[in-house]
Amino acid sequence: MQNYPKRMRERRKNQKIRDKYSETSLSPADFIFPIFIKEDTEKKEPIKSMPGHFRYSLNDIDEIIRKCEKAGILGILLFGMPSKKDATGSEAWNDEGIVQRAIKKIKRISRLTVFADVCLCQYTSHGHCGFLEKGRIDNDKTLKLLSRIALSYAKAGGDYVCPSAMMDFQVSAIRKAIDMAGFRNVKIMSYSAKFASNFYGPFREAVGSSPKTGPKDRKTYQMDFRNSEEALKEIELDTKEGAEIVMVKPSLAYLDIISKAKEKFGKYKVPIAAYNVSGEYAMLKAAGDEFLYESLIGIKRAGADIIISYAALEILDQKWLKKG
Ligand code: PBG
Repeated sequence: MQNYPKRMRERRKNQKIRDKYSETSLSPADFIFPIFIKEDTEKKEPIKSMPGHFRYSLNDIDEIIRKCEKAGILGILLFGMPSKKDATGSEAWNDEGIVQRAIKKIKRISRLTVFADVCLCQYTSHGHCGFLEKGRIDNDKTLKLLSRIALSYAKAGGDYVCPSAMMDFQVSAIRKAIDMAGFRNVKIMSYSAKFASNFYGPFREAVGSSPKTGPKDRKTYQMDFRNSEEALKEIELDTKEGAEIVMVKPSLAYLDIISKAKEKFGKYKVPIAAYNVSGEYAMLKAAGDEFLYESLIGIKRAGADIIISYAALEILDQKWLKKG
């Protein structure tokens, strides 16, 4: 506890004094920036549901990579959009798939840390994150496919593989598969407490990954947003299974989860990442950059060590942030 003056307003007197006593700040190393890459396209396409964002082609990815390097952020998180989908999502583990080629190119032209999302929903014709059989998602068959994807990303040179399918044992299955192939140096950032949220809307519109057949939503694998004890259990299991970074997703309606996770696991130095998702971004962007800033500060203050944010580049560009 700081030794506070009796008159609290002393610390709010002017900007310099407020800056001196501020307890929270944002720095480039806090941020991971998501990037969408689309196969078989020549030029980047603007994403309507997410102002300022694009589906990049492999050709014109250089520009955004430079911007990320210049901003000095922690890394980028890759999402792929394949030109063909099928029932099992087989393009996801094609060693010449769009994400694999993007990883190789990015590693050739930059020193950015590359995080790659490991999931099936962008690659399956039904739009689910797992193996769909008789109208249900089969957990253990999905594990085999997720392991193949992770291994393929590891071979391409990815630094972190990031399972986001919310299957039980996805972290241990991937850890085992990549270790056995000799990729012990590849790390895992797990989407540990990922809730079945309405805030993913603009993302699904951007990549066309809404469920089309089978269960109408993702509630049999993503978490029920009424639960917090369960979220902490998910995080605990992922740390035991070998995740280097654990994640809470979304962020804003889930600050309590971030805060509890930090309290419970922060002492073991497990970094807690928070994903400030597409719906949150779209809402805040419509309101204005000061709302974005206030919300990102809130996520950091709640205990996030890492923030995955579509606003990373624009926020770090603000003069008022650099000063503070
Ligand atoms: C699914 C996935 C989702 C997001 C990224 N990957 C959620 C979903 O479709 O259920 C959402 C990210 C965002 O909204 O920014 N693997």
